[in-house]
Amino acid sequence: MSHVRSRFDKPADELVIKYTSSLPFDWRLYREDIRGSVAHARMLAKQAIIPASDAETIVKGLSEIGQEIEAGGFTFKPEMEDIHMAIEARLKEKIGEAAGRLHTARSRNDQVATDLRLYMKDTLTATIAAVYELQTALLTVSEKNPDVILPGYTHLQPAQPLLLAHHYLAYFEMLERDKARFTDCAERTDVLPLGSGALAGTPYNTDREFVARELGFKSVSRNSLDAVSDRDFVVEYLSAAAIAMMHLSRLAEELILWSSAEFGFIEIDDAYATGSSIMPQKKNPDVAELGRGKTGRVYGHLTAMLTTLKGLPLAYNRDLQEDKEGLFDAVDTLLLSLKVFAGMISSLKIKSDKMLGSVDKSYLLATDLADYLVKKGETFRNAHGVVGRLVSHCLKTRKTFPELSLSEYREFSPLFNDDVFQITVMSSVDSRDNPGGTARQRVSRALSEAKKILSDE
Ligand code: ARG
Repeated sequence: MSHVRSRFDKPADELVIKYTSSLPFDWRLYREDIRGSVAHARMLAKQAIIPASDAETIVKGLSEIGQEIEAGGFTFKPEMEDIHMAIEARLKEKIGEAAGRLHTARSRNDQVATDLRLYMKDTLTATIAAVYELQTALLTVSEKNPDVILPGYTHLQPAQPLLLAHHYLAYFEMLERDKARFTDCAERTDVLPLGSGALAGTPYNTDREFVARELGFKSVSRNSLDAVSDRDFVVEYLSAAAIAMMHLSRLAEELILWSSAEFGFIEIDDAYATGSSIMPQKKNPDVAELGRGKTGRVYGHLTAMLTTLKGLPLAYNRDLQEDKEGLFDAVDTLLLSLKVFAGMISSLKIKSDKMLGSVDKSYLLATDLADYLVKKGETFRNAHGVVGRLVSHCLKTRKTFPELSLSEYREFSPLFNDDVFQITVMSSVDSRDNPGGTARQRVSRALSEAKKILSDE
């Protein structure tokens, strides 16, 4: 770092070098840094700010450095403060003095903001694709099991029968909103900071629009101070990631619960389960548990980023370097979680008998019985009371609804008739035939719509 320390009398303390270096993590931005520098050098030449021959040498040198890094032949020297300095220093080694022209009309402040936005643009595309993959898995399992019925729960108490496809389409919806959040974030990320200089702009006759076009940015930033010091696009990504992980975590919790011996609704494929080091019989849902567990990390990164930004005066402050580690970890965690969950969901073994058996013994048709009485003229509140007493009777006599005789029904209301026996689990499901309901024909339409949503994207 000696080249930026000419006003100092001594080198930085060794621990300070370690403390301030971001190279151990921001090396990941090398591709973006090279792309940004190439576009910048071309612009400088086009505007006759630097000689065209120097720009050519710079571009060539940079692309070779890219290859060196990719081939593992690049030495990341710890004394380099960050990837930007490391690449520039290597460029100097390779092409000599001309390397010194690259940083004309540029600061690391607009450089790092540009690199990070470039990184985020690709990351957002990858994230949306990974969410899409999980949605596809949810549709696959739903389509494979169109008539499977399971108990729906509220308060984790059996509530009303549901189609499994309806249940999984609920997650499809959550993920659809997640994608919309990432798409929205991509819109605001798509702005070029380069050209803002350290904070106030640059006195050179640059062409920012040209750089934006070269790098594929939709627009250039309007305010140099904002452009170098803002990281709210990172906060937006982290919030959308935290919400997506929250959704994943709810899904995970159900996989864990449903694969327990007590529920037995599903079996997780061997490829997505783990064993125990002591209990040979165990098949554990560790993958789902880790999805649930890793959610906390992503929440933490969001909180950390918000806290880092809070109270920072304009413009660039070194605190901003703290944006990267948490972000990278959140990106890695989210992408891997989404991919692993897609595989786990599409390979799930559905135990439909267990699901249906649980429906049968859980008085899930109680609401349907109340609705039956309402159709016969009873008020809903009275009907609720009648069926409540009926349930209490069943519990005491250890009977399920289908085991009751008509005369038993009639002890609770004279409105009960033979047609009460037509109420079945499937009739209950199919009766909920309003928009958003669980009726088979609704769900089959919802499935087609969901597939269309994905194929239109
Ligand atoms: N390593 C820094 C970061 O990641 C790059 C910008 C440094 N700028 C500066 N003025 N020290 O934020």
